[in-house]
Order: sequence, then C-alpha cells, then structure tokens
Amino acid sequence: MVNNQNPKFDITIESPGRINLIGEHVDYSGGNVLPAAIDRKITLRFKKNKTNFCSIFSTNFKSHFNIDLNNIARSETEWHNYILGVIFHINVLKPDSVRGFDCEIESNLPLGSGISSSAALECGIAKGLNELFEIGLTDIQIITLSKDAEHTFVGTKCGIMDQFAVVKGKKNHLLQLNCATLEHKLIKADFGDYKVVLLNTNVAHNLASSEYNVRRDECQTALEVIKRKYPNYTLLAQVKPKIIKEFKKVLPEKIYDRALYVSKENRRTLKAVKTLEENDLKHFGELLYKSHSGLTNRFEVSCKELDFLVDYTKNLDYVIGSRMMGGGFGGCTINLVHKDHFDSFLGNIQAAYQEKFEIDLIPISVVISDGTRKI
Ligand code: GLA
Repeated sequence: MVNNQNPKFDITIESPGRINLIGEHVDYSGGNVLPAAIDRKITLRFKKNKTNFCSIFSTNFKSHFNIDLNNIARSETEWHNYILGVIFHINVLKPDSVRGFDCEIESNLPLGSGISSSAALECGIAKGLNELFEIGLTDIQIITLSKDAEHTFVGTKCGIMDQFAVVKGKKNHLLQLNCATLEHKLIKADFGDYKVVLLNTNVAHNLASSEYNVRRDECQTALEVIKRKYPNYTLLAQVKPKIIKEFKKVLPEKIYDRALYVSKENRRTLKAVKTLEENDLKHFGELLYKSHSGLTNRFEVSCKELDFLVDYTKNLDYVIGSRMMGGGFGGCTINLVHKDHFDSFLGNIQAAYQEKFEIDLIPISVVISDGTRKI
C-alpha cells in the first residue's frame, strides 16, 4: 500500500477513473457525452531527485523503470508509454520544465475495463509534475496533452472525454460535455432509488490494438463523403439522421451504419440530459438500452459477454437501464438497479454469467467523486 503520510515523497495526487452514462464513441466525432469521475483511482506520489533521470515504480506490477530526460522515446512496455508520452508533451508545451523525479504509483482501477485507467494515469502524471515543478499548466492543457500522449506514444486515437472527465469531474455530478467546443455543464447525478453499478465482464480490451482506431477512421470516411454534398459540416455528430439517410445508397453499408449510430447517439445524449433534468428516470433508462443496441448492431464495438449482461436485465423491472460502457470489445456494462433488489440482482447475474461463460463477473459499485487532485 502507498502510505499517505509517507515522508519520502513531496506530493501525492489522486487521479480517478470515470464512468459514462451515455454518449459513447461520439467524442472523436464532436458529439456530446455524459461522464463522471468515480471513487476508484490511481494514487501517485512524487519527489524531486535533483538528477536528469526519473525513477518510476508501480506497486501493482511490482515493476520499476528509469527515464533519461535527454532521450524520451516510445517503449516496448505499454504502461511506460503513458508516462513517457506525458513528459514528452509537457516538454513540447513548456520546454525543460520537467526535471528528475521519483514516482510511486498504486491503482485500484481495473485495467482494460472501460473505466479509463489510461486517462487516470496520464492526467495523474501531468498534474503531479505540474505541481512538483510549478510548471503552470492549465487544466485544459493537462487534458489535451494527456490525450496527445495517448495518440502518439500509446497509439490509441482516443477522443477527449476520458481526460476531461478525469480532470474536471465533480462529486455527485455528471458532466455534460460538448466535445467539439469543450463547453460543459454540471448535471446533478440524482438517480433516486436506483444505484449505479458496473459489471466487469473480465474480458479485457486493449484499445490500441482493437478496432477502436478503425472506427475513428470509418467515421472520418463517412464525414468526408457527406461533406462533398454538404461542405458546411465539419463534424459527423452534427449531421442529422435525416441527412445521413440520404447517403444510404452512397456509403458502404458499414460506414453508413457507423455514421447513423453517431448521429443518433449524439441526439440521444442531449435527450438523456433533458430526461434527467425532468427527473424522468424511466425514459433515461430506455435511452441507455437504445444506446447499447446501436453500439452492438450499427457501431459493432460490443461483444457476446457484454450483450449477455445487457440482455439479462431487459425483463427485470427493477433495472431501468443497462448498456456497455467505454471503448467496448470487453470491459464493463453500466446499470441502474433499484436499491431494494440490488444484492439479489448481483448474486443472480453473477451466477448466470458464470454458468454461461465460466468467468467471474465482478460488480463495481461507484460513487461519483471529484477529479484529479493533490491531497
Ligand atoms: C475510450 C476513449 C474515449 C471514448 C470512449 C468511447 O474510452 O478513450 O475517448 O472514445 O472510448 O466513448
């Protein structure tokens, strides 16, 4: 365990994971999303070491590596790249601001589960170095350079949602974020008698090597074709479903499906915000199911384990919404379950999942919490 009072370190940062209620795979097409930071987190401790080297230790991996600040290059070991990439991109913005440091990292965020352990690590490193060396980066700089690190060093061409939610998350609130303009609004996370629970399929994804980047390219292809007729559109999420439908015979079927999904999901997210503001939880839950159906059938980023879990809840009147969450291809579903049936629901769905796939299903109850912070 990292000791919070450990005198060996100067600074401690907590950097949370995130959930996303709705608005999946639309951030990189300029859509609206509805994420929040959670109580599961990465704890990072920092200390200057007066050298030109950085010494990083992960208590989870029980693994250590050194970085030579005069020679920052990609590593063969994936988790090193999150850190290398952040240092590289801080240097792009503020040359020579990072000096030698020691850092110890401990996490209670499951990896590859769609809860964004990647953004938590990137933003935790960026925030910690910003504090340690008084670099003067703004939150928005921390968010965008962390995203850039993921693109250039890790190879996942992610959107901005995860880094934004991890840094800007607020206790008890969802963030309605417009990923094109970065305008955002806090929405009270009030689900009445319903609890938010994640169900981790234990099928881990690796977005860098999955079809994630392919989906991004497919969305870009769709936009380019649409722009030939409608040059004013600069983002796929802006395009109305009615306009996309004009391209049914023009676009290859899969590209058409991707585009229609993005357009509809963006509108669903705006509707979902409205239902929350009107306290219409039933309608909110229905939108989650529709989102999942689009992710499965048109966007094709789900998998049989995620589909099984969502289907299982469909006839249970005490579950008002369920869908896959995050990048997909494994990871978690997010569920809204009535508190009176919570324990029995978990027991039953765990047993059913074990019987079907012979894999343990891990429930993760989440508390909506603050974003990355110094403690
Ligand atoms: C991953 C990416 C995000 C976003 C989601 C899907 O978590 O990092 O940018 O695209 O997938 O919504």
